Amino acid sequence: MKKVYFETYGCQMNKYDSELVAGILKSSGYEETHEAAESDLILINTCSVREHAETRVFGRLDALRALKSQRPELIIGVLGCMAVRLKETISERKPFVNFTVGPDNYRALPEILSKLGRNGSDGSLSLADVDNYEVYGELFPAHSDGVSAWVAVMRGCNNFCSYCIVPYVRGRERSRRISDIINEVKKLAALNYREIILLGQNVNSYQDGGADFADLIRKVADVDGIERVRFATSHPKDLSIKLIKAIAEHPIICKHIHLPVQSGSDKILKQMNRNYSRRHYLELVQTIREQISDVGLYTDIIVGFPGENEHDYQNTVDLVKNVEFDGSFIFKYSPREGTAATKFTETVSETEKVERLKNLNKIQDQITLKRNLALIGKTVTILVEGPSKKAKPNQYMGRTETNKIVVFNSQKPPKNGFVDVTIIDAKSHTLFGSLVHNKN
Ligand code: 5AD
Ligand code: SF4
Repeated sequence: MKKVYFETYGCQMNKYDSELVAGILKSSGYEETHEAAESDLILINTCSVREHAETRVFGRLDALRALKSQRPELIIGVLGCMAVRLKETISERKPFVNFTVGPDNYRALPEILSKLGRNGSDGSLSLADVDNYEVYGELFPAHSDGVSAWVAVMRGCNNFCSYCIVPYVRGRERSRRISDIINEVKKLAALNYREIILLGQNVNSYQDGGADFADLIRKVADVDGIERVRFATSHPKDLSIKLIKAIAEHPIICKHIHLPVQSGSDKILKQMNRNYSRRHYLELVQTIREQISDVGLYTDIIVGFPGENEHDYQNTVDLVKNVEFDGSFIFKYSPREGTAATKFTETVSETEKVERLKNLNKIQDQITLKRNLALIGKTVTILVEGPSKKAKPNQYMGRTETNKIVVFNSQKPPKNGFVDVTIIDAKSHTLFGSLVHNKN
């Protein structure tokens, strides 16, 4: 067996794609290694959503060049969104990269690798064409170990938010068939995965025949052996009452919604081409909270979009304070060549962007802490993922249904599965629990 090493940047869909590629390569004789130094093939799966993500990859490629000069037979490939957006730049600036392959071309990888094998490893190949039909429907990815597995239900995006590169590098929105998704989920259940995270850029526009995402998620939740189902991401213009009801009613569907708002200013929302108003968003949040008790609500926000003045920014701050999200992922606007927003002149300086980002993060941290402190004394069920990240002895971590991380002590490793813990302490990003009893 040859050895392949993956490094993955960006969103959960990219992480799923790396597993998909690992599955494709398994059938051509590659096994995965976690050591770049001992690999025959290094694959960097890349993200183009912000400039920073791309800069990191260029830096990382320079570091990998050293490995390649020690072992010229080592093959380095760039996958993902940068392969589509920057294939020429990569081949000019990083000529030691052997190939670039885009998100819709992964089926061709075995052929590309065998071509490279025939020509020696000094050629540079590229296959990075957007294919508006590819969904990798029947393929079974080499899912990484754990209790939880990602499953893509659709690919691409049709929304063309004015700042976003995704529709250009991942193509049009298309759904995978329910039958293929359920097959993958059944296999995962048989392999002892307990939680499924359904992925799509905008899952709310999922469709297969007459079925929509609410129908799909109920079917996934009904698969024997699956005990939790979550999903990402929802677009506020499309999140349906039918889906809200499914979350409220089905005990297996987690009370966890990721609902990117992006801005609290109607003027900016319009320029972002988001197709909803601040009022619509706030009403939607109200409906969600009325229907789903104790829901975990998370959002994405961009600060420093062109034209965002102090008043617009304060509208975002006000919305964040008003909604009291459980967590917000806040980003500085990063212009992406080819997107509509680049025709707007940037008006917010880098210093001001940093200031707005810091300030909003601070506000959100206080809200998160307040919401977490309110959980002290409550008993919650968590799905144990393994030792806690900071790996103190006898310390383990898991997640609540609302996607909050809980750290707890246990004398022996809890068998991966569900445990009940009483929350005894809370920090902004972590809850601390005391074990009640093991459900297994
Ligand atoms: N600049 C900054 N943030 C962006 N996002 C998408 N495009 C950009 C950009 N050009 C953010 C959005 C999206 C998240 C995945 O990344 O908030 O929801
Ligand atoms: Fe980008 Fe908007 Fe599509 Fe999300 S919904 S991937 S932000 S274009």
